[in-house]
Amino acid sequence: MSLILPLIVLLSTTALVDAACQKHLTAAQISERGKHPAVFVFFEWVDVVGDDSTYATVIDSVFNGQETYLTTAQSFDDVQWVVLAYLFGGNTQLDSTTMYCDIASAAVDSSYCGGGLFWNRQHQYKNAITNELHLATSSYLYDYTQNATYLNNLNTTWTWLKASQMFASNGLFDDGLTNDGTCSGTGTQWTYNQGVVLVGLAYLYKFTQDEQYLTEAYDIVDATISTLTTNETLRDSCETNTANQCNANEETFKGIAVFFVARFLEIGGTDNGSTMSDFIKAQADSMLANAVVSGSTSTYGSALYAAGSSDAAGSASAQSSALGALVAAAQQSC
Ligand SMILES: *[C@@H]1O[C@H](CO)[C@@H](O)[C@H](O)[C@H]1NC(C)=O
Ligand SMILES: *[C@@H]1O[C@H](CO)[C@@H](O)[C@H](O)[C@H]1NC(C)=O
Ligand SMILES: *[C@@H]1O[C@H](CO)[C@@H](O)[C@H](O)[C@H]1NC(C)=O
Ligand SMILES: *[C@@H]1O[C@H](CO)[C@@H](O)[C@H](O)[C@H]1NC(C)=O
Repeated sequence: MSLILPLIVLLSTTALVDAACQKHLTAAQISERGKHPAVFVFFEWVDVVGDDSTYATVIDSVFNGQETYLTTAQSFDDVQWVVLAYLFGGNTQLDSTTMYCDIASAAVDSSYCGGGLFWNRQHQYKNAITNELHLATSSYLYDYTQNATYLNNLNTTWTWLKASQMFASNGLFDDGLTNDGTCSGTGTQWTYNQGVVLVGLAYLYKFTQDEQYLTEAYDIVDATISTLTTNETLRDSCETNTANQCNANEETFKGIAVFFVARFLEIGGTDNGSTMSDFIKAQADSMLANAVVSGSTSTYGSALYAAGSSDAAGSASAQSSALGALVAAAQQSC
């Protein structure tokens, strides 16, 4: 696997101001990463960012030095995380967004396994995250621009992804497809891949009012809850009771998953009863229960289901993941 670009997803100050649940908002604000309330970050190097940064300077300083990596399309998922960062950061001029979208469009291909996007420029692997991010970026861009190309991309990519064998029989997404000609599902069923896809489904519902997309999203969340949780909280398979086997990327996955469930509720505007909202709050509550509080700062581990030796307690990835879950929970009623 490549070194995944240190990805960021920006979190708008508005989201914090609009919080409904003060308990989780307060926890987010006193988290170590809450010292940078404008930015929801996944990797260490954002520490170069100062407290008073605006979104534009946050984004620019985070990406400074990464342009070559991005513009040469080393990884099409990373390019699209950057697009999302710009969109979440409120870049209304859309110039950087469009530039990186154009780079990602080189990943689109119909000859290999019938459609979808390649993961990187080697063109040897199609995976879930790259395609799910394409759903998300196409969704936001259609919402902003009403350019029908983006709606068509959203529709085409979802139709392909849903029918692909990486959408496994247990209702969850595998990491990707084999390149042996059979296009079989392969790899770990990571938590984040069950969350990021929900943005595309929320927007498909918003754009069409077809409730089929809600049902598909509820089913994915139901399958996630029944398959990828321990003690009712998310658990990736790299988390064991004896040692932390997750790398820095993997430590962020659960927070990303929870953050995107909250985006689904925000965009789609509808829950199945309170399943998703309860799920989001349960993740944040478990994290709070396992947090190490020191003075006015809380430090979070990467494992949500229990505090213990599998925790990467205090890693930047764990803090960012925690912040994702806390902010998601802060937007729920409590
Ligand atoms: C719509 O978006 C596509 C892809 O970015 C672009 O090629 C096309 O020019 C846009 N159409 C309009 C009318 O702006
Ligand atoms: C998606 O594509 C299908 C098949 O071309 C079409 O019937 C449907 O109307 C499209 N939906 C949207 C939302 O564009
Ligand atoms: C909605 O939630 C109920 C209760 O949790 C569950 O049994 C049902 O399967 C869910 N519906 C869908 C469409 O996922
Ligand atoms: C679930 O949580 C309980 C209570 O915190 C803990 O004792 C138990 O070890 C956890 N389960 C696992 C599998 O870690």
